[in-house]
Amino acid sequence: MSLPVAVFASGSGSNLQAILDYHASLDAPPWRVELAVSDQEEAKALERARRAGIRSRSLPVAGRSSGDVAGETLDILRFSGIGFIALAGYLRLIPADVVGAFRERMVNIHPALLPAFGGKGMYGMRVHEAVLAAGARVTGPTAHFVDEEYDRGPIIAQWPVPVRAGDDPHTLAARVLRVEHLLYPRVVDHLARALSRGCRPAPFSPRGTAFLANARATADVERAISAGFTED
Ligand code: GAR
Repeated sequence: MSLPVAVFASGSGSNLQAILDYHASLDAPPWRVELAVSDQEEAKALERARRAGIRSRSLPVAGRSSGDVAGETLDILRFSGIGFIALAGYLRLIPADVVGAFRERMVNIHPALLPAFGGKGMYGMRVHEAVLAAGARVTGPTAHFVDEEYDRGPIIAQWPVPVRAGDDPHTLAARVLRVEHLLYPRVVDHLARALSRGCRPAPFSPRGTAFLANARATADVERAISAGFTED
């Protein structure tokens, strides 16, 4: 039996798509994306899930109490037997009861090097605007476990991406997103494999999972590496 995974997304769902594509490239992975959940009924992410034959579920959050949302979320997750959750551009705070039920079994991807440029209100293009406004020379995605605060849980993996002269928030977002699509599916796979065996995951190492050997590494990643920005 493979571990049923849920992906939560509010928008375009390109990270959901990257997870689905990576999963499809694996040989009999012991996990599967069982369910996509969105707070936005019209989210493109739900459409992507439906196209891939995955159950999709909208879960309205606006104007509801945290307790109410927590109850419905837990019902949905239990109904599908979900054992692991990946937030992929999900812009709502996960209620504490859900965090408690999925401690160290729920991850998020953020488009900056946390703990910088994170927290409430820091999502999407706003993150890249703040990175540029601060004059940071390096940015990049962070995958982390989810706790009760936005963007604060323990960090699992980061990948540095250079900020270039002449970048605007859109060029920077696109460069970071390409690396998100490489990193996040591998983080999900690493953790879901451990959970499917009932083990505590070993620390994630891109090299340990042959990240560099297998990834269709973008020119940006290669440039970042040759510029000396490696994980060590
Ligand atoms: C991604 O860049 C993700 O890191 C970011 O939203 C985008 C979603 O894109 N998440 C956050 O900012 C969370 N704080 P996608 O819908 O195409 O995957």
